Amino acid sequence: SFDVKLASSNRVIHIPAEKSVSEALAAEGIEIPISCESGVCGTCLTRVLDGIPEHRDVYLTDEEKAKNDQFLPCCSRAESALLVLDL
Ligand code: FES
Repeated sequence: SFDVKLASSNRVIHIPAEKSVSEALAAEGIEIPISCESGVCGTCLTRVLDGIPEHRDVYLTDEEKAKNDQFLPCCSRAESALLVLDL
């Protein structure tokens, strides 16, 4: 598990192993656009300001993934203990 921090509010939300980032955010009332929920469509693309995502999507190119400045919260997770998101 890991935490995400919302840059606009400094809120920190815990992401348990059994929930996606988008599910955990929705449970806290933070809705982001979601469509496929499987890392294919790119609808949920979110900027990452700090931390290292664990990319599990098939939408971003390898080059984009290596930059670690965006991720897909419907399916991807974190390698670092904290991800700071541009939300
Ligand atoms: Fe389609 Fe996240 S909702 S990639």
